[in-house]
Amino acid sequence: ALFAPERVNARGWDLTHAPTLAAIDQGRASYLEAKWDAGPIVADTVPPPSPKTSVINPARSDDTVGHVRPADPATIAAALAAATPWEADAQTRAKALNAAADAYEANAPELFAILAREAGKAMPDIVAELREAVDFLRYYAAQASDATTARGIWTCISPWNFPLAIFTGQIAAALAAGNAVLAKPAEQTPLIATRAVEILHAAGVPLGALQLLPGGGDVGAALTSDARVNGVAFTGSTATALKIRAAMAANCAPGTPLIAETGGLNAMIVDSTALPEHAVRDIVNGAFRSAGQRCSALRCLYVQEDIAAPLLKMLQGAMNELVVGDPWHLSTDLGPVIDAPAHQIIADHIAQAESDGRIIHQIKAPSAGGHFIAPTAIRVDSITDMTREIFGPVLHVATFKADEIDAVIDTINGTGYGLTFGLHTRIDDRVQTIVERVAAGNIYVNRDQIGAIVGSQPFGGEGLSGTGPKAGGPHYLPRFTANPAPMAMG
Ligand code: NAD
Ligand code: ALA
Repeated sequence: ALFAPERVNARGWDLTHAPTLAAIDQGRASYLEAKWDAGPIVADTVPPPSPKTSVINPARSDDTVGHVRPADPATIAAALAAATPWEADAQTRAKALNAAADAYEANAPELFAILAREAGKAMPDIVAELREAVDFLRYYAAQASDATTARGIWTCISPWNFPLAIFTGQIAAALAAGNAVLAKPAEQTPLIATRAVEILHAAGVPLGALQLLPGGGDVGAALTSDARVNGVAFTGSTATALKIRAAMAANCAPGTPLIAETGGLNAMIVDSTALPEHAVRDIVNGAFRSAGQRCSALRCLYVQEDIAAPLLKMLQGAMNELVVGDPWHLSTDLGPVIDAPAHQIIADHIAQAESDGRIIHQIKAPSAGGHFIAPTAIRVDSITDMTREIFGPVLHVATFKADEIDAVIDTINGTGYGLTFGLHTRIDDRVQTIVERVAAGNIYVNRDQIGAIVGSQPFGGEGLSGTGPKAGGPHYLPRFTANPAPMAMG
């Protein structure tokens, strides 16, 4: 059935419940010094012992979390040859994916530890990420159907910022539909991907239906330029999506689907009727949570000039409360950014704003030991001052006059991106008008603009931000099939 009313999202973990928090902290403690190994997992082939690269904790340069052996061309060729669509009936596929969801929950302490040490994620983020991964597994399992036919081989390429949830979501949809998957995780986060694939295999997914090929852009390029590939699911930057589209056009059969979920220049409008305390809470969450490393994160705040001065003062106070540091510590709000190249790009952007005299506020962050960036608010005239997505804890702030709101929306739409958008207002008519006019996939009113929930808030952008269909929504899985069933709305 396309919809399974009995399916419910995972309960997750309530971090405001002190015993739960203590249990999570204690559970992962035995993994503080653990090391993991990653490498290709390919059917019928023992990959050659290619050189290993160390995976280093982005928060602690002295912490080697494990090692990875990237897939070499011969291993990629072997995986393509061995890829076998999953011919089991829908019930069997669903059962394995649901078993994997249970196993993710059972292995939570280890998965939490890897997410924190490999990806530098703070406690609220690791808990939300595991829950989202579990929800994706159960959500797509519930949509497995014998009435649809697999397309064949899908390449699934994911980013490092949701190295478990997005990695799992793409794979789960492709597998639920009966395809064979070639999974290429981000080069920064191969360890969590390896554990996920091991768990999926142990839960009953056949080896030929799910193969893992760690590595960088070269591995991704090989997996998206082969005529045997029948579809590509990609989440990552817009620039990489454009490269993949070109590679597929040149090498894959005409009409091979590409599902690309990409970046954004996400805005929020706060008008003079907004409740400042709520707006500030949501601005801080949207811009700085996960160290700003969410595609959904707030990048450019437009605040009506009548309330700009008090709102920005309140924002500075709220920023002062943020704790930047090792995400393993429970008091940490923001961990590091993912690696040295990312750090350099963000630090250069902040340095430029500093030399232009545009810093509104910046708090302190550790200057050594990891790739930490101090949360920073920067004054801009318009979102068009941002020429690219700055993927870190940097908020850009512009002001507008009461009669300029339509022009502001035109400017935001004019960036060509369209991922998330936030609005804080207490004028009901304005909500309606703005929601109709803004070109963004996910629009949030009087709340923050991050943290979409599987099944109830399908997530995905338009324009330069993505092709659709939205992940975690009813239209996603059918795209992985050769004969999408008519879609019910709900
Ligand atoms: P990225 O584009 O650099 O890399 C993403 C993946 O693509 C990685 O696995 C990488 O190895 C692979 N890759 C790189 N070059 C390739 C090529 N030529 N061919 C095939 N694969 C290739 O992105 P990133 O830095 O890992 O992730 C951050 C980006 O992802 C941000 O732009 C963010 O907005 C976006 N993102 C979007 C969503 C969404 O749902 N829209 C979600 C998370 C992240
Ligand atoms: N789905 C993630 C969010 O909503 C990216 O923040």
